[in-house]
Amino acid sequence: MSVWSRRRLLGVAAAGAAAAVARRVPVFAAPRPDSGTDRGEYEPWLEIDAGALRRNVAEVSRLVAGRPVFAVVKNNGYGLGLETVGPLLDPLPTVAGLAVVKADEAFRLRDAGVHQPVLVMGLVSDEEALELARRDVRLAPFAQDAGEQLARISRRLGRSVPVHLYLDTGMNRLGMPYYRAGPWIRDLAARREVTIEGTFMSFTEDLAFDPEQLQRFRALAHELRGSGVQLGKLHAASSHGLFFRREAYLDMVRPGLVLYGAYPSGAAELELAQLAPAFRLKARVVDVQQLRTGDSASYDRAYTASKPTWIAILPAGHADGYPRGAVTGCQVLIRNRLYPVIAAVSASHTIVEVGDLQTVEVGDEATLVGPDRPEITPNAVAQRAGVSVYDVLMHLSALLPKRVVQG
Ligand SMILES: Cc1ncc(COP(=O)(O)O)c(C=O)c1O
Repeated sequence: MSVWSRRRLLGVAAAGAAAAVARRVPVFAAPRPDSGTDRGEYEPWLEIDAGALRRNVAEVSRLVAGRPVFAVVKNNGYGLGLETVGPLLDPLPTVAGLAVVKADEAFRLRDAGVHQPVLVMGLVSDEEALELARRDVRLAPFAQDAGEQLARISRRLGRSVPVHLYLDTGMNRLGMPYYRAGPWIRDLAARREVTIEGTFMSFTEDLAFDPEQLQRFRALAHELRGSGVQLGKLHAASSHGLFFRREAYLDMVRPGLVLYGAYPSGAAELELAQLAPAFRLKARVVDVQQLRTGDSASYDRAYTASKPTWIAILPAGHADGYPRGAVTGCQVLIRNRLYPVIAAVSASHTIVEVGDLQTVEVGDEATLVGPDRPEITPNAVAQRAGVSVYDVLMHLSALLPKRVVQG
């Protein structure tokens, strides 16, 4: 990805747009050299801040007293782009590996040049398992017959297969139930075809139940390790656990959300870690209009001007990942000022109220989500739009062009 050339191109386009406003002629953008397509300059984009990502990882590492961090990059790198964040996280010294849920994402990480261990925390077919193991991806077995599958793969590869055992201690989603896991693990550990590098579980994130889950996990691990079974690194804590369950840091932690600079609910108030959003959702103003008193805007005439009012149109909407509910209090940063979202967020557009004066022009860069003001962080947008902060990240469209900056 050519960061520099894209930055320059945007600068050129901004100048062109400003000139176009003065002349009232449309601007047609040149193809972007980094996108591989002839996408227009007025398409929204994601700016990924490599420095913020790095600092968030360092902050997590500090919080967990230097334990290795297995970075979760599932769901297209939490919306930031798997091929973008994977290679940025891969070389960081405290990152011990990258975790995904789907086989395809593991292949994409390898295709993107990621060298660290990659873990697939989901069910995969025999063919996928063979190909994943061939590409040095760790499987997370939890099925009763996993031993036979791993033995078949090992025979085909001519070497043992590294795995992280997935245990279920009460989530009842994926994992071998802890109360049946003892003999299953002993069988796997006894097989020369299997190398157990890790053993893990997921918390329900119910503050009252998590201790019980941890106790189940620990008791089983204690018993097995006591009889000489190698379980590899034990890991359980995701972002929530980092803040609310310090005793669950174990040998390694496995966070996703916090790496991208967002807090699980209630965590920011604990002030245990200073995180910064590692992305900006950006778009350029495509139109600025003055509504007359009584004029309305958007579907269902959702907004009506009570006096002459300037509005600006942004070409980013809920299909790009900006929440539909943003109209209930979200703001957008343009030229260092915050403007309220009005009307309704449609699939491809968002309207902001500029006010009595025309302080915004076509071509101005707008930040809908990002670190620059407390009002537009992912947590603030989530809270104002009435959605989960996970949605603010993971619903970002995979089609958004990515531009990496070293913030
Ligand atoms: C098994 C597992 N571990 C870790 C994570 C990371 O969670 P979080 O983003 O809350 O840190 C996830 C994501 O939901 C997960 O499914």
